[in-house]
Amino acid sequence: PSRPSFIAGNWKMNPATLEEAVTLAQQVRDGVRLDSPARVAICPPSIYLERLDRVLENSPIGLGAQNLYPEPKGAYTGEVSAAMLNAIGCTHVILGHSERRTLLGETDAFINRKLHAALANQALLPIVCVGETLDQRDAGQTLEVVKGQLEGSLAGLEADQAPQVTLAYEPVWAIGTGRTATPEQAQEVHAMIRDWLAQRFGAAIAARIVIQYGGSVKPDNARDLLAQPDIDGALVGGASLVAEDFLKIVEAAE
Ligand code: G3P
Repeated sequence: PSRPSFIAGNWKMNPATLEEAVTLAQQVRDGVRLDSPARVAICPPSIYLERLDRVLENSPIGLGAQNLYPEPKGAYTGEVSAAMLNAIGCTHVILGHSERRTLLGETDAFINRKLHAALANQALLPIVCVGETLDQRDAGQTLEVVKGQLEGSLAGLEADQAPQVTLAYEPVWAIGTGRTATPEQAQEVHAMIRDWLAQRFGAAIAARIVIQYGGSVKPDNARDLLAQPDIDGALVGGASLVAEDFLKIVEAAE
């Protein structure tokens, strides 16, 4: 397909110190081939971004935030805007991660505002996360839940902006559990997402949109997942904190 592979590391609230973060970023920077056909990004805690932008200078590795607030400035205690992230060197932003949906009550409508804030003024390339819980899967609601999340979080997105968006399918039951979706289970949902995108934006645009899988991606399962026709990359949590493992996943995408 005409899509690049895209491997992103979601460091979540790790590692515990700036020193460890710098070391990990250096190891990733030094380990990714300059001519790698895969796109690679790391998404550290926001407090480390400015320092790690310097580590990644002159490297092809993208730098992503894990959240933003959808207003340019103002009385929003504790929050950071898209332009602020852009100004310190961010290229990407993760939006709507299930941890934020669950722990911080983020809704599709709020995620949608963030999506538009990220895209405005070409500030940041968004990675929008969707995925069902185990109860929803067991109740046979997976496709319906994911469709609802797509409709809400991508509302108002224009076809010409759509290829800038990466989607990440992260079944909640596979996150941090060591229980990966099988390649077939993941492909089924990725194919449905691609169909939805084709209906919404047309087949040509849908064919260009990168859809990552996330949920216990490790060096030993990455290759089989990435071999599926609609799995174009991975959003990696735990394994992105060990440079050797993350680099093996990048290699699997090359
Ligand atoms: O965003 C990545 C993620 O939620 C998956 O985490 O630790 O299961 O790879 P993990």
